[in-house]
Amino acid sequence: MDPRQNIIEKRLANINRLIAVASGKGGVGKSLIATTLALSLSKKGRKVGLLDLDFQGPSAHVILGLKNAYPKEEKGIVPPEVHGIRFMSIVYYVKDEPSPLRGTDVSNAIIELLAITQWKKLDFLVVDMPPGIGDQTLDLIRFMKGSEFLVTTTPSKVALETVKKLLKLLKELKIPIMGLIENMKMFPSSLAREQAKELSVPFLGEISFDRYLEEAIGNPNKLLETKFARDLNVILSKTNLL
Ligand SMILES: Nc1ncnc2c1ncn2[C@@H]1O[C@H](COP(=O)(O)OP(=O)(O)OP(=O)(O)O)[C@@H](O)[C@H]1O
Ligand SMILES: [Mg+2]
Repeated sequence: MDPRQNIIEKRLANINRLIAVASGKGGVGKSLIATTLALSLSKKGRKVGLLDLDFQGPSAHVILGLKNAYPKEEKGIVPPEVHGIRFMSIVYYVKDEPSPLRGTDVSNAIIELLAITQWKKLDFLVVDMPPGIGDQTLDLIRFMKGSEFLVTTTPSKVALETVKKLLKLLKELKIPIMGLIENMKMFPSSLAREQAKELSVPFLGEISFDRYLEEAIGNPNKLLETKFARDLNVILSKTNLL
């Protein structure tokens, strides 16, 4: 057993719920959903952390409009509060430079980050996952015990095919799945709902394609007023999160 596992368990001990926003597919809205979810929960008065675990393509900081915030060293690393949420990302360390890490290096960086981050007490830690069912997903399952998966897809058959694989993997590993969210909906289609039903996964609802979303990127107050955020909140009101 990796000795860092013990340290990570202690670091995460005061977090009530770990929510991993994931998908088998890239570009389906994980980062937007994870960040908006964290902001919405915080707005409802919950203590929330957001962890960007997409080390190769971090983007939650762009959505939050992160400026001049840095972690503090204090028996580990304390993430700064950004718009009311404790935000941790590799961007504090790599800035605008690319981080071309290989598989094991990514795993090590994740483990290291989890081992040093002092979240303190949180109601929710929302994790923005990289796409796919690769190392990072397996690391999260291994090191962030008790994580619940909020899985995102678009209505496309191409996305659904890989999302099906992720859902099957999670089921096989007996990892809790909160449900499936269908994002960027433009036309009526029942494929995602049917897919969820076939795998006995709760279908949580849909978020329509919002052509004004881009204007709200980097401005959390504006983001919370978009149709995208309103659709997400309708979905969340049907879960036990809000
Ligand atoms: N409902 C929506 N309406 C309009 N645009 C959207 C919607 N959801 C996401 N987008 C846009 O789609 C793009 C991809 O979103 P995002 O970065 O959140 O996806 P992702 O799944 O995190 O991608 P990656 O796999 O690369 O991490 C972004 O430009 C985002 O603004
Ligand atoms: Mg992303």
